[in-house]
Amino acid sequence: MNLNEAKQKFSELLLNTKTESREDLINFIKNSEEIEDFISDSHVQILESISEELRKVIPCSGILQSEAIVNLDDPKTEHIDAFLFPDDVLDELCDEGKMSRHYCANCGSKKTQKLDLVSHSFSAWELKWLFTKILPPISNKVLVDVGSRLGCVLYAAAEYTDASKIIGVELNPDFCALQNSIIEQYSYDKIEVIQADIRTQEQLLRSSDVIVLNNVFEHFLSQEDQVKCWDVIFGNVKRKGQVIVTVPSLQESLDELNGQLPDNWVSEIEWQLDEELVPDECDLESLKSVHLYQVM
Ligand SMILES: C[S@@+](CC[C@H](N)C(=O)[O-])C[C@H]1O[C@@H](n2cnc3c(N)ncnc32)[C@H](O)[C@@H]1O
Repeated sequence: MNLNEAKQKFSELLLNTKTESREDLINFIKNSEEIEDFISDSHVQILESISEELRKVIPCSGILQSEAIVNLDDPKTEHIDAFLFPDDVLDELCDEGKMSRHYCANCGSKKTQKLDLVSHSFSAWELKWLFTKILPPISNKVLVDVGSRLGCVLYAAAEYTDASKIIGVELNPDFCALQNSIIEQYSYDKIEVIQADIRTQEQLLRSSDVIVLNNVFEHFLSQEDQVKCWDVIFGNVKRKGQVIVTVPSLQESLDELNGQLPDNWVSEIEWQLDEELVPDECDLESLKSVHLYQVM
């Protein structure tokens, strides 16, 4: 049903409702929490429909042939993509034998171990949480997703926020083409994708208000290049109040590289997680690995 058809049905519904109850019905629509939930879940539904479209063109691993992922052949690790394959879809793939959550530790025996699942994207539910509960409002701000890959951070920012501009920077041209096709199909006018190495985008880093870095460098670049990327970020994200979202924490990323955070650069903004409110679809542990900082 398109919008005009829905409007027509709604008029019919009003006409078929007893005259004395019409006002109550309208008040219900204006104020009901159920309707609020429905509106916010409709964003999840849009993200899920984008994910379904992308699943048609991306392999199960979520990795393209044009990518060079570091340690891709580690038998203890399975690369999945939480945006493309939410838990229920992953379960179906495991049942069909197309994916596994376990590996055989001792070939020929039934002794199996849990695989380390590495996701290269946020899931739709993590994105909802990020933009509705973790980040402060970002109306009229510019958001940059460093390494925008499938573009899910960009679509979620367009769905949930009033950011004035949403920019993805991605090295891989195939992912940029995919993002541009979704942007066109869903008329996401505020989103722009730049195919580039973030090291060439100093001005963009200086002028943006919110910078998202989700597992951005570690599986994709040599340690030497990762250090150079972080240096560009330290050198350009310097304006007081700029917000940085990272997974994992800045400290963890730098520890892996034996690097150090610049003194007095950022302060962490603690955010509270009411675990009872987190839906089953949302992986609590991944959510807890989201860190928020503000430049001092
Ligand atoms: C883990 S994915 C992040 C996906 C996405 N931002 C999200 O949160 O769902 C990291 C992406 O960063 C890209 N990338 C890595 N180094 C980069 C660089 N120096 N400049 C731009 N993109 C980079 C990779 O190609 C990869 O697609």
